[in-house]
Amino acid sequence: MSGSPRVLVTGGAGFIGSHVCQTYRDAGWEVTALDDLSTGRRSNLPDGVVLVEEDIRSEAAADLVRGGRFDLVNHHAAQIDVRVSVARPRHDASINIDGLLNLLEAARDGQVPRFLFVSSGGAIYGESGEIPSPEATLKAPLSGYGVSKLSGEHYLFTFRKLFGMEGASLRYSNVYGPRQDPNGEAGVVAVFSSRLLEGEPLTIYGDGMQTRDYVYAGDVARANLLLTTTPLPDPVSVDDVAFNVATGEETSVVKLAETLLKAAGRDVELQHAPPRKGEVLRSCLRTEKLRALGWAPEVSLEQGLGNTYQHIAQEI
Ligand SMILES: NC(=O)c1ccc[n+]([C@@H]2O[C@H](COP(=O)([O-])OP(=O)(O)OC[C@H]3O[C@@H](n4cnc5c(N)ncnc54)[C@H](O)[C@@H]3O)[C@@H](O)[C@H]2O)c1
Repeated sequence: MSGSPRVLVTGGAGFIGSHVCQTYRDAGWEVTALDDLSTGRRSNLPDGVVLVEEDIRSEAAADLVRGGRFDLVNHHAAQIDVRVSVARPRHDASINIDGLLNLLEAARDGQVPRFLFVSSGGAIYGESGEIPSPEATLKAPLSGYGVSKLSGEHYLFTFRKLFGMEGASLRYSNVYGPRQDPNGEAGVVAVFSSRLLEGEPLTIYGDGMQTRDYVYAGDVARANLLLTTTPLPDPVSVDDVAFNVATGEETSVVKLAETLLKAAGRDVELQHAPPRKGEVLRSCLRTEKLRALGWAPEVSLEQGLGNTYQHIAQEI
């Protein structure tokens, strides 16, 4: 590499992608974000990051990847709504599979040496596997989104085998932090925070003992930076180049709500509603593999919830 290394972050104007852009920029990388702003926002982008506003499925996106002399493509852009993927699996596959292939083909033709792909532990692991789930656990996705993420990992594997392109998949657990969209149904932390700001009760579905593994976006971004340069093995299976990015700690929804109230110094009622059909009861990922490379989460749940709440309070 001569001069600053160059990275293309797809989905860089989104919630997690914007943290990833910031981390690369702070580490001295020249950062370009490729984003169609379908859910992302220009204002999420840190200073110094160039935005190319295109759909990842477009010829213009392929041209950018092919001719951009990038040292790395970091692929965060995606259709992220599980319910949309259940209702419209072709739409999900169009962005999450066809869009990925558009970038992978261009990266191969442009001789981009490494490609990082963002997958999802919660969506690809089966419910009957081990908890906390190691990378090698049973894969049994229950949504189009889970299928498209697992397919992406397999394509990365074949591109390594066929064309020598290095690739790693980052299997996130539940990511939370500043810039998460509080209007969606997805990010419970952002939804709870905005309810709290309005002085409204927090709704807990079922008994609230269902668990998730909440990891802070800044910690996730550091995992991306680490996997950018860490030596990767010649894989025998997709799991060999897949890394859970999580804390390894299970937190119930009730505990999450209580910790958020404490971090925010506020008090509202916790309101119970009937359980949601099809909701996974436990989700937690093992993190030994990434920790062995020197990564560990640094932001505690209380600290991270406090930061997220403050950020949403400022926005509102
Ligand atoms: N949030 C989580 O807890 C979580 C968990 C597991 C995996 N992930 C993955 O992390 C990545 C980022 O998710 P996020 O939570 O930050 O969501 P997000 O919606 O904030 O980010 C996605 C970004 O991709 C962009 N995008 C979507 N379709 C595009 C297209 N066709 N062309 C160009 N850009 C497009 C959006 O505008 C947005 O900026 C996704 O790949 C998602 O599947 C997120």
